[in-house]
Amino acid sequence: MRISTSMLAAGIAATALAAPSVQRRNCKKPSAASSTAVQAGTTSAAAVAQSSSVAQSSPVAAATSSSAAAVVASSSAAASSSAVASSSAVASSSSAAAVSSAAASSAVTSAAAAASSSASSSSSTGSSSGFKFMGASESGAEFGTAIPGVYGTDYIFPDTSTIQTLIDDGMNIFRLPFLMERMAPSTMTATLDADYLANLTTVVNYITEAGSYAVLDPHNYARYDSTIISSTADFGTFWTNLATSFSTNDKVIFDCNNEPHDMSTDTQTAELMQACVTAIRGTGATSQYIFVEGTSYTGAWTWTTSGNSEYMGNITDTVDDLLVYEMHQYLDSDGSGTSSTCVNSTIGENRVTAATQWLKENGKLGVIGEFAGGANSDCETAVDGMLSYMSDNSDVWLGALWWGAGPWWGDYIYSMEPPSGTAYTAYKDILSKYYPSA
Ligand SMILES: *[C@@H]1O[C@H](CO)[C@@H](O)[C@H](O)[C@H]1NC(C)=O
Ligand SMILES: *[C@@H]1O[C@H](CO)[C@@H](O)[C@H](O)[C@H]1NC(C)=O
Ligand SMILES: *[C@@H]1O[C@H](CO)[C@@H](O)[C@H](O)[C@H]1NC(C)=O
Repeated sequence: MRISTSMLAAGIAATALAAPSVQRRNCKKPSAASSTAVQAGTTSAAAVAQSSSVAQSSPVAAATSSSAAAVVASSSAAASSSAVASSSAVASSSSAAAVSSAAASSAVTSAAAAASSSASSSSSTGSSSGFKFMGASESGAEFGTAIPGVYGTDYIFPDTSTIQTLIDDGMNIFRLPFLMERMAPSTMTATLDADYLANLTTVVNYITEAGSYAVLDPHNYARYDSTIISSTADFGTFWTNLATSFSTNDKVIFDCNNEPHDMSTDTQTAELMQACVTAIRGTGATSQYIFVEGTSYTGAWTWTTSGNSEYMGNITDTVDDLLVYEMHQYLDSDGSGTSSTCVNSTIGENRVTAATQWLKENGKLGVIGEFAGGANSDCETAVDGMLSYMSDNSDVWLGALWWGAGPWWGDYIYSMEPPSGTAYTAYKDILSKYYPSA
């Protein structure tokens, strides 16, 4: 998410209200403007991230904080280890995002037959939407600027009781963001941290034993310790280590990395994703879905102009029908997911149309791994329109995940946390039309 100067100001103000714990939201795109704002702030990341603790620390504080503070909470996403520290890279982000490669005619080999057979099996779930997956990201483990940080202070794991509420409502997929620096301390190839892995495993097992899907999401923007991940071998080792722990759980989904952006070379994102796929399959995890994300924050709306349509299509898998292109789509003017205002009531469908064509033309499967809108009628219509369009194209779209649920969101504009999250109350009925069991 982008951080504007005014939001930063609001964030600092909100910090005064906040309890001492710090959290961070790793999410959207820090634009050139946002990185300027981040750099301009003295304690920048910490200050912004701190504001988000308004939302978390106590319901009372959350209740007194303005919605602007909640927006800032989300924008502390930009304060991700990668985003802040790599602000020079971030500074070039808007140009990189805007300067897209020419109309990408992806010469990707198609697996159309395979894809459509998978799609038809996905629609055999009985859902009228045709979706196999509908759910939400579950934030918490990626929060906080401290590495490794302290459980319960800097970060938290999702609340299985509220996940159960969402399951009871009809959701069946939960994406679990976490930080690679906490999971593999000091170096990407390190032995995994036993406590952090145990926390994650507890939540994963809860979800999958309930019959839902758990998505493992290293929420790292293709960075480790603020540096672009350049070693495909090391990245593969990280995934070998992680996937080994989950290789026999069919309901686990591996999401290679959250929102790569501003990479060193045009092909780097696809190369990292390929290393991830190869490593995971190498552990014997051959029955699970793998989600791969593209550059430019994996935006659906820029998929065919960002270079993703040229380079991502060549990723190969050793098993059929389980490689899924995870795209993200917000509906505010800059697509950053920082505003409760949507462009207009049709922007959801508009922004996913070109990506839908790409999926179809190239015989690929897609999922919207993050989407959201504010609690107002324009956004609600736009979200409904996007899901309806995707449902009409459920031969290529397997489903969608709202951003986001989690116990520390407070009054965040997109909070899907039951029972009273802003989006949970506004969107429950709309989303329920698309649940796989609906
Ligand atoms: C996470 O681990 C900590 C100890 O490191 C423990 O106190 C806590 O209960 C765990 N939480 C979950 C949800 O597993
Ligand atoms: C993708 O694969 C196709 C077919 O093999 C090839 O023509 C094309 O150059 C590849 N694209 C990239 C970016 O490697
Ligand atoms: C919404 O905005 C998009 C992008 O500017 C535009 O293409 C579309 O026509 C607009 N829809 C309406 C109903 O105005």
